Amino acid sequence: MSLYIKHIPAIHLCCLPGLTWAPLNALSLRYTVAAFHHPLSTGPDHMMNLITVPTSTGGAVGGWRHPDAWRDTVMNLDHMISCAKTAERGKFDCVFFADGNGVRDISNPVLFEALRDRAVSFEPVTLLAALAQHTQDIGLVATVTTTYEEPYTVARKFGSLDHLSKGRAGWNIVTTARPGDARNFGRDKHMPREERYPRADEFLDVVKGLWDSWASDAFVQNRETGQYLDSTRVHTLNHEGRYLKVKGPLNVSRLPQGYPVMFSAGQSELGREQAAKHADCLFAITPSKEDGIALMEDVKGRLSKYGRSPEAFKIIPGSGVFVGRTAEEADEYHEC
Ligand SMILES: Cc1cc2nc3c(=O)[nH]c(=O)nc-3n(C[C@H](O)[C@H](O)[C@H](O)COP(=O)(O)O)c2cc1C
Repeated sequence: MSLYIKHIPAIHLCCLPGLTWAPLNALSLRYTVAAFHHPLSTGPDHMMNLITVPTSTGGAVGGWRHPDAWRDTVMNLDHMISCAKTAERGKFDCVFFADGNGVRDISNPVLFEALRDRAVSFEPVTLLAALAQHTQDIGLVATVTTTYEEPYTVARKFGSLDHLSKGRAGWNIVTTARPGDARNFGRDKHMPREERYPRADEFLDVVKGLWDSWASDAFVQNRETGQYLDSTRVHTLNHEGRYLKVKGPLNVSRLPQGYPVMFSAGQSELGREQAAKHADCLFAITPSKEDGIALMEDVKGRLSKYGRSPEAFKIIPGSGVFVGRTAEEADEYHEC
């Protein structure tokens, strides 16, 4: 059977009705994000990367009631393993788990009861450590905030994940979108953007410095000489900056990838600059293709300032996906 897949910007996604194509249904797809190596090219080397965002209950508001949907999706590891394995079988590049540190919409009972999977979720790096043991190839990307975490623990978490997954870790760097999360971290108010991004910049320098603590050949493990590690192959960071003070070194050996694949999702001026300086990929949800192209040109234009080439950076537009046997059927799903 040939399938027609219609992509729409994810911002327009409000329902994913009657989707019964098994793999997508099993993925509980909220939206798919895709990056093109050459976004304006249609040549034969055109290559698409696919990343999916598994959620407990998918993108359709009533989707969890569908007869084919999983019956229990609350903190259900088996469900998440099934999603990750389906995505891997379908040759997706990554699974990505967005995240925040708070219960969403609790002050609005109607939304709170209706919006299904938002109330509780696995801490994503922990979840990915589990998924790593049930998958072999797929990339494992988690959101972690630089605003309410400490760089040493973040460096350690992603370092461990990269080892546990044999080099498949990815970090979606955010400064926290939901202001209410601040109240879970000793603050009455969210840190303003003008502070969040400079802190994130320093945080990222520290985290990278910590990942560079150990040379890849530091652990010699020489049974003949009795030398387990070479102390000249580790260095202390001794960072003291405006926001952070971190001595180091990191108590995780050099990551299989060196650094995890770094994603960024900020769209503001400060967010774009952070992406250009630190990230490998930018998640971009724009209302139109033209806006998407303008964003791409803007961020790619900033790369040279940091000695980076546009080819080394990907823009990842979000898409809602409607699958039908024909274009008309996909259109029909989109319209209803
Ligand atoms: C695809 C995508 C995924 C995002 N995931 C998260 C997330 O998991 N957690 C979060 O706090 N913010 C997330 N955001 C929000 C961004 O981090 C950012 O706050 C937002 O795009 C506004 O940009 P600004 O911070 O530059 O103003 C996401 C944004 C996009 C486009």
